[in-house]
Amino acid sequence: MSRLEEAVALARAIGLSVVHTLVVTLERPNPATLIGTGKVAEIGGLAKAPLADGYPVELVIVNAALSPVQQRNLERAWGVKVLDRTALILEIFGERAQTREGRLQVELAHLTYQRSRLVRSWTHLERQRGGFGFLGGPGETQIEADRRLIGERIAKIRRELTEVARTRGLHRRARKRVPYPVVALAGYTNAGKSTLFNRMTEADVLAKDLLFATLDPTMRLLRLPSGRKVILSDTVGFIADLPTQLIAAFRATLEEVLEADIILHVRDIAHDESEAQKADVLHVLEELGVHRDDEGAEKADRPIVEILNKIDLLEPDIRKSLLIRNRLAPRHADRLSVAVSAETGEGLQDLLAFLDDLLGAQELQIEVTLAPDDGAGLAWAYRHGRVIARDEDEDRIHLVVVADPPVIDRFRAQFKGIKIIDKKELVVQKSSSYP
Ligand code: GTP
Repeated sequence: MSRLEEAVALARAIGLSVVHTLVVTLERPNPATLIGTGKVAEIGGLAKAPLADGYPVELVIVNAALSPVQQRNLERAWGVKVLDRTALILEIFGERAQTREGRLQVELAHLTYQRSRLVRSWTHLERQRGGFGFLGGPGETQIEADRRLIGERIAKIRRELTEVARTRGLHRRARKRVPYPVVALAGYTNAGKSTLFNRMTEADVLAKDLLFATLDPTMRLLRLPSGRKVILSDTVGFIADLPTQLIAAFRATLEEVLEADIILHVRDIAHDESEAQKADVLHVLEELGVHRDDEGAEKADRPIVEILNKIDLLEPDIRKSLLIRNRLAPRHADRLSVAVSAETGEGLQDLLAFLDDLLGAQELQIEVTLAPDDGAGLAWAYRHGRVIARDEDEDRIHLVVVADPPVIDRFRAQFKGIKIIDKKELVVQKSSSYP
């Protein structure tokens, strides 16, 4: 994908409709406007002409870093708002940040960016405020006041971030109370994560559960072929040449993958840079601590499944052999990849079945012992777990139940007085009545 296509995809990701695109070759960057005067005039012509539907152009995105002065000069010349690459990516992160830490990191990056704009251009922008004095001391210029306010806000965010980092473990445990396994999609921007997310959930009525979708549009409940429910979660995309001042914000935004039981690493295998992108993603995931979680061994080896997306763009022979490979056993022992086309839906059933298998391998078996008259408890157990054996005598009902680890946690909360025999086998004993 070219840089231009990537920039267009990024703009679309925040709901902008792109009406003109243009590649400008820079021989010598112009300090005042970055691009040459001829190009400034040409783009100005496009920006000022009304569109076919009568609406005006509202925004020009320059997919490069603009100095504050360049940005202001271009805005003046074109009569519209101008965003540079850093600002565009910040907008995307702002939309996607979900955790508190993510939101704080994005705001911090935003403020730092804004402050640099004020600082570097303030001699140009300087204007004396008119003597009301509620923003700052006497004689303080607007720019100084803005700088001071931004500086205070940055200091506050830094303090909050320290606090968040300190209590991160607590928060994570609280969020982990999600009742189903979480499957997170991660990968480069434009790899097809959103397309796959929609494709996987479109056929499932559960996913249309409005309450859930409104709470968090990037998470959906999904039912796999076995009937097992999982939560599918979309994350912010990786971006090549991420401006360095945005790296912390990006990582914080991606932190949700740490909640995931399974990570689907979505790859555009028709992309020229596919291998480099893969290395990049794995490196960042590793740095985020996906392989060495400090909260216990169970999370340390969560599977990362490679999704080879866009196979419809490959040679038919290669496409077919990848699809055949999808169905070869053993599924999860030595092959953690599935080939699909999110666009055509090919391979999708294989992916769902694969997830079922993988989660099946993580399931635990428990034994639940109930009083013979405990109809409510019995019904609860049947509703939430898979009962594979049942044995009754006069004073007890014994159930052997299989369930995913998060569901096992719910059993633990539901039935008091459980005894854990070992990791694979839990004995649950009922000691009081059910809510
Ligand atoms: P970000 O939201 O920017 O992180 O991107 P994304 O990974 O969510 O990608 P998205 O789903 O927006 O897809 C990017 C582009 O690739 C879109 O134009 C899709 O139509 C296209 N696309 C996605 N999957 C496929 C596929 O299987 N085959 C083909 N040919 N195109 C695909």
